[in-house]
Amino acid sequence: MSASKKTMVSGIQPTNKLTIGNYLGAIKNWVKLQSEYDCYFFAVDLHAITAKQDPKQLADNTFFALATYLAAGIDLKHATIFAQSHVRQHAELAWILNCYSYMGELGRMTQFKEKSSRAGETIPVGLFTYPVLMASDILLYQADLVPVGSDQKQHLELTRDVAIRFNHNHSKVFTVPEPYIPTVGARIMDLLEPTNKMSKSSPNEMGAVYLSDSMKDIEKKFKRAVTDSGSEITYVEEKPGIRNLIDIQAAITGRSIGDIAKSYEGKMYGHLKVDTANIVISELQPVQERTQRFLADKGELQRILRAGSDKAATRAEATIRKVYDAIGFAPR
Ligand code: TRP
Repeated sequence: MSASKKTMVSGIQPTNKLTIGNYLGAIKNWVKLQSEYDCYFFAVDLHAITAKQDPKQLADNTFFALATYLAAGIDLKHATIFAQSHVRQHAELAWILNCYSYMGELGRMTQFKEKSSRAGETIPVGLFTYPVLMASDILLYQADLVPVGSDQKQHLELTRDVAIRFNHNHSKVFTVPEPYIPTVGARIMDLLEPTNKMSKSSPNEMGAVYLSDSMKDIEKKFKRAVTDSGSEITYVEEKPGIRNLIDIQAAITGRSIGDIAKSYEGKMYGHLKVDTANIVISELQPVQERTQRFLADKGELQRILRAGSDKAATRAEATIRKVYDAIGFAPR
């Protein structure tokens, strides 16, 4: 870790199966940015239990997510990777920050409002305080930069508010983080309902491309992708399905959107679908192979994760010490 490097922190929930939305919107960006930062990337399993999880699945999904980080090119030279639950300080700081967060501001979180409107009285308290745990994930490592999807921007604003509030009440303990919302690939949409974000928990599995999908399934899903009426391939508001396919291509190839759209002038929707499927397949195939290799050697994977959580805990503990001192907990 170089002292001059800034810190970057991000995580994904190990619930359900990861999609190309997680890969293109998050992991691939981390890989791109990692060498310029001291990075902490984790699987947020403590967040995952805000919804009911099958215990065996939760563990498997956590290993799968972390193996995918490595397979996608996260480099241990630049990044520390681990499971959130392996670093106790996340839960510890979350309690403290609960005491610095307001019911009002948490009640205004769009994600909470959406989820709670469905659950009613039996909504878990954890879903309400979810953003406080997220703030803890970030502030524990004194993060400067936090890459997130646009749906998490509000949670990052809250993190900043809580950090500023704590610093103001006590002393400047926390670095106030900046969000990083990627412009390309930030929002991969559902293939069947291209006005909705592609989600791990999508009701229709045909709308989402999972990292664990076979190449055949990926081909099939792109062939069935919904592509608006008309026949011209143009990157316009009224054609969210077409736009999504072009976005996916842009996120993978690094080509500009204009360039890609132009290359389809006079061509049919079918071309775009087949090409996009092929581009996704050639990107994912090697990642899948490497993921399987990491998963095949659980011992080695667990060794990497233990080293990661040890390193993370050391950094996290330094922050906890400062927080405890600032609050005035009696020294032991
Ligand atoms: N809430 C984030 C999401 O659903 C995941 C997350 C948890 C996270 N803790 C974080 C992202 C800390 C960035 C930093 O996408």
